[in-house]
Amino acid sequence: MQVFVVYCHPSKKSFTHDMKQEFLKGLSDANHKFVVSDLYEMNFHEEMSEEEYEREAYYSTEIPVADDVMEEQRKIQQSDAIVFIYPVFWTEAPAKLVGWFDRVWTSGFAYNPDPQMNILKKALFLVSAGKTLESLEETGESNAMRIVMLGDRIRNRALEKEMMIFDGTTHWDEAGRNERLAGHLINAYKAGVNF
Ligand SMILES: Cc1cc2nc3c(=O)[nH]c(=O)nc-3n(C[C@H](O)[C@H](O)[C@H](O)COP(=O)(O)O)c2cc1C
Repeated sequence: MQVFVVYCHPSKKSFTHDMKQEFLKGLSDANHKFVVSDLYEMNFHEEMSEEEYEREAYYSTEIPVADDVMEEQRKIQQSDAIVFIYPVFWTEAPAKLVGWFDRVWTSGFAYNPDPQMNILKKALFLVSAGKTLESLEETGESNAMRIVMLGDRIRNRALEKEMMIFDGTTHWDEAGRNERLAGHLINAYKAGVNF
C-alpha cells in the first residue's frame, strides 16, 4: 500500500519519535511505500488565515486553496491509507495537527460541496499518552479522542479506521516506563508490518 504518514511531535528526544521510527521500519519490512509529513520539521503553518476562514465558512467560496494545503491534499490523493502519529495534548492532538485538519480538510475536498477526496482504505492513529489506558477509559477521555478523530474527522473518509493508544509514557516511574515502552515499540513495529 501507499501510506501517507502525518507525524506531529515537537522533539526527537521522545517516545513518540521512536515509536514512529519503529512503525516506519515495520512498513518498510512489509514492502509498503510511504511519505511522511513531519509537521514540526516542515514548519507547517497551522493557523487559518482570515481568507481561509471566509472560504471554509462559505462567505467567499471563490477564494483559492493555499499551495501548502494543496500539497498535503495531493499526498492524500496519491495514497491508499493515512496514518497519524502524535502525543495526546489535553485529550486532543497538538495544536499543529488540529490546525492541519482545520486547513487541509477544505470544503470541496473533505466536505461539501462535491468533496473530491478519495475514500481511503484505512486510517490509523498511533497516539502516545502520559496517562494509563485504565485512567483514560475510566474518565471517558479515550472515548472522546476516538469520537473526535475517528467519528468526526475521518467519518466515512476511510473504509477502516482505528486508534491505537500507547499509554503510560510519563516519567514518574522510570523502571515501569522503560518496560512498558519496550513493549509499545514492539507493537508499533508490528502495526507497520501488519498494516
Ligand atoms: C501540553 C501537554 C499536554 C498533555 N496532555 C495529556 C493528556 O491530556 N492526556 C495524557 O494522557 N497525556 C498528556 N500529556 C502527556 C503526553 O501525551 C506525553 O508527553 C506523550 O505521551 C509523549 O511522550 P514523549 O514526549 O516521550 O513522546 C500531555 C503532555 C503535554 C506536554
